Amino acid sequence: MQKTIIALTVLAGTMLLGTTARAQDAAANTYIGVKTCAGICHKSEKQGNQLGIWQKSGHSQAYITLTTPKANDIAKAKGLTAPAAESPECLQCHALRADAGVDIKEGVQCEMCHGAGSGYKTNPIMKDKVKSIAGGMKEYKDAAAIEQQCRSCHNEKSPTFKEFKFEERWAKIRHTVPKEP
Ligand code: HEC
Ligand code: HEC
Ligand code: HEC
Repeated sequence: MQKTIIALTVLAGTMLLGTTARAQDAAANTYIGVKTCAGICHKSEKQGNQLGIWQKSGHSQAYITLTTPKANDIAKAKGLTAPAAESPECLQCHALRADAGVDIKEGVQCEMCHGAGSGYKTNPIMKDKVKSIAGGMKEYKDAAAIEQQCRSCHNEKSPTFKEFKFEERWAKIRHTVPKEP
């Protein structure tokens, strides 16, 4: 009996932690979508063309991939009854959750790595890193923190997992703002 109570308490604690982390960004900030992130600011060459780099990357195709016959075969082989593009088991790494209020077809979009944008999207905040982070933008302290974020999806739970070499993959999608000359 005592063991059950302890186990339940631990379980409840873990669930609570999980919801708190998500509730925080959901309550404070809402998702704004790629078009808003990139509409004015993040598409010029001078700014580093984050939009273009993302569009050419696999991340912009991640939802589309789930609509292919190959994806449905994988889903079926895993015993899922719904098509891949409707299965939470697949969507969790391939798109932002459906109730986030942005087009699910955006796949792995900006805010999945940067945090819901409503609280840091304005120019005066965005220009100031400290203010942006206070406004809900996810902070990456070092390369290890970035790699950890990548590995939250690039891991063995992915049915098509390929070895993840961080440096190589990061070089493919990196979208730095060029330094002023
Ligand atoms: C929210 C989940 C998620 C996160 C976080 C994530 N990825 Fe991905 N990534 C994917 C999915 C899903 C695909 C497959 C897209 C497709 O092919 O449809 C992918 C594909 C890629 C590709 C294209 C395949 C290739 O090797 O050319 C690269 C590169 C990549 N990711 C790098 C990264 C890096 C670097 C990070 C961390 C900065 C990262 N990803 C974080 C889900 C994620
Ligand atoms: C833990 C995260 C995760 C989950 C869960 C996940 N995927 Fe993926 N998926 C990825 C990543 C990351 C890639 C990119 C693979 C790479 O480049 O290493 C990918 C790539 C793919 C690809 C393209 C790979 C290729 O070789 O063509 C298909 C198809 C796919 N996933 C289907 C699915 C289906 C179907 C499900 C649900 C049964 C699913 N995925 C669940 C993370 C995930
Ligand atoms: C797979 C994860 C991922 C996706 C998707 C993604 N980013 Fe990033 N982005 C990062 C990481 C990690 C950094 C580096 C953060 C750092 O060094 O503090 C970064 C850096 C940036 C920077 C700052 C660059 C600098 O030099 O200071 C901008 C601006 C940016 N991203 C915009 C975007 C926009 C706009 C999109 C969508 C079109 C996007 N990102 C999509 C992970 C991602």
